[in-house]
Amino acid sequence: MTEEVFRSPNKRGRIAVFLSGRGSNFMAIHRAIEAGEINAEIALVFSNRKQAPGFLFAQEQGLDTLYLRPKGFPDRESYDREIAREIRARDIDLIVLAGYMRILTASFCQQFLNRIINIHPALLPSFPGLHVQQQAIDWGVRFSGATVHFVVPEVDMGPIILQAAVPVLQDDTEETLSARILKEEHKLYPETVRLYFEGRLEVRGRRVFILE
Ligand code: GRF
Repeated sequence: MTEEVFRSPNKRGRIAVFLSGRGSNFMAIHRAIEAGEINAEIALVFSNRKQAPGFLFAQEQGLDTLYLRPKGFPDRESYDREIAREIRARDIDLIVLAGYMRILTASFCQQFLNRIINIHPALLPSFPGLHVQQQAIDWGVRFSGATVHFVVPEVDMGPIILQAAVPVLQDDTEETLSARILKEEHKLYPETVRLYFEGRLEVRGRRVFILE
């Protein structure tokens, strides 16, 4: 059987950012785009929470925004189907999950395979899930960090694109470790999007190669 190979496009990309909260990763990407460091534009900011600070920031910036009220849909399938429709209508190249707190349905993930990325505040595959900074402290690991990965239906399991490690210190609290990791996230995520639209990410099975 021949292995399927995906190569990210070399083009000016149209990005959709999905968020549910603070939005600091979205802001980092937005800043990098404004600074001309990424060959892309933010064509949509989508949220499941109308009052999310990141969503309000996107509106202030005059970006195209979309809020869909989860309670207005009978189930997750129909909610995600509507998002998919909006994404297709806007000709989006890449979906960037930036603190989006809803699990995407398998069919959504499959439709946009290699076109959804996520950032996670731990060194996957260690500590998938939520509250992972506290879990890292409680486990006693000496290093934790951030991971950017492609999204597959199995949560936090997709091919890893970039990682950054930070030390876990003996007097760390969830807050201090989260802050140290977040600083790295704000470098790692814009860098990933940059590489993506330079056509430099190649996915072979579980492995992502960064092309010269
Ligand atoms: C980050 O820690 C990210 O790793 C996780 O959710 C948090 C989002 O933070 N997926 P922000 O909304 O980008 O500030």
